[in-house]
Amino acid sequence: MRNPRTEPSYGTLVLGIETSCDETAAALVEDTGHAARPWRIRSNVVASQVEIHREWGGVVPELASRQHVRDICGVVERALSDGGAGWSDVGALAVTQGPGLVGSLLVGVSFAKSAAWALGKPLVAVNHLAGHIESIWLEHGRIPLPAVVLVVSGGHTSLYLIAREGDYQLLGRTRDDAAGEAYDKVAKLLGLGYPGGPILDMLAREGNDQAIRWPGTRLTNPDRNAPERDGRFDFSFSGLKTAVLRHVRGRQAELGAAPLPHGEIVDLAASFQRRVVETLIDRAFAAARWHGARAVGIAGGVSANSRLRSEAMAKAERSEIPVFIPSLALSTDNAAMIAAAGLRQLAAGRIAPADLNAAASLPL
Ligand code: KG4
Ligand code: ZN
Repeated sequence: MRNPRTEPSYGTLVLGIETSCDETAAALVEDTGHAARPWRIRSNVVASQVEIHREWGGVVPELASRQHVRDICGVVERALSDGGAGWSDVGALAVTQGPGLVGSLLVGVSFAKSAAWALGKPLVAVNHLAGHIESIWLEHGRIPLPAVVLVVSGGHTSLYLIAREGDYQLLGRTRDDAAGEAYDKVAKLLGLGYPGGPILDMLAREGNDQAIRWPGTRLTNPDRNAPERDGRFDFSFSGLKTAVLRHVRGRQAELGAAPLPHGEIVDLAASFQRRVVETLIDRAFAAARWHGARAVGIAGGVSANSRLRSEAMAKAERSEIPVFIPSLALSTDNAAMIAAAGLRQLAAGRIAPADLNAAASLPL
């Protein structure tokens, strides 16, 4: 039976809140009532902490949670005013429960619980990775199913089979580093700053992607942490990261005090990026073929990568499996994707309990 208090309908506005890492984000997403394009973004506000963490070469958890506390009220108010809405227009709230930094997550979860209680509106708990997956539907509307979706971010590199909307079946994941993490570590090693993904992406455009041949990574052994899993669609990036480290250390020993020339840095960036992108695309399309997928989706911060985007489109044409990638604003962390995933769950009647807690390693 329909529950009029929770079930979304035409015009339901969901306030999404995302604080899992170093971005404080809030957004309003509306249920349009249209079958093909069920969600519309009314506002999408992100306050980035990147300038604070850059000085330390990575996210400092304690600094991140303190900054979320400072920013959250202003970011939510801005999302409401940008969306032309007031608190009384909010039909439900959606918040990232995990995975992420627990201190950061707690700020969003506490804020969302308090607001939901004060407004007397339902609250939905969202898995951050489900948010990234739903960013594809938020951008493109309904896509053909079954679909294979690659979630590739700073914390995760995972493949999911989506046979039905809202149903996420894990097909493979990284055994060690996430692709974004490898980008960030390689950039740090080269003294290029944080976050490394966008910097290496830019430098790679100037370089020769064939300049350095990295050793291959073969995953023939089962996953030590879960030997029962079929690991054929797993990833591993720590070997490549170590190969880059060895290469750089070797060149530094040869050069003495002199820095690595710019030409070598751009060649390294291009060769590294080529390998990462090839691995991601090969595995995603192999999984798609194996599972008879009618679409491939790519989401998460690394889906902002220019080479990944162009090569995925080229591969889509060759393989005749269409590729769906969110726009840049929806690729990196944002709250619109959390609100969209919230609408999906609201429709299924999954409301969070009043004692909802943050979960740093929440699985999907
Ligand atoms: O999804 P996201 O914003 O946060 C997490 O959930 O982790 O992803 C952040 C990651 C970082 O590792 C960042 O370096 C990477 O996405 N990234 C990129 C690019 N833009 C962001 N990696 C490669 N190329 C890019 N253009
Ligand atoms: Zn993310």
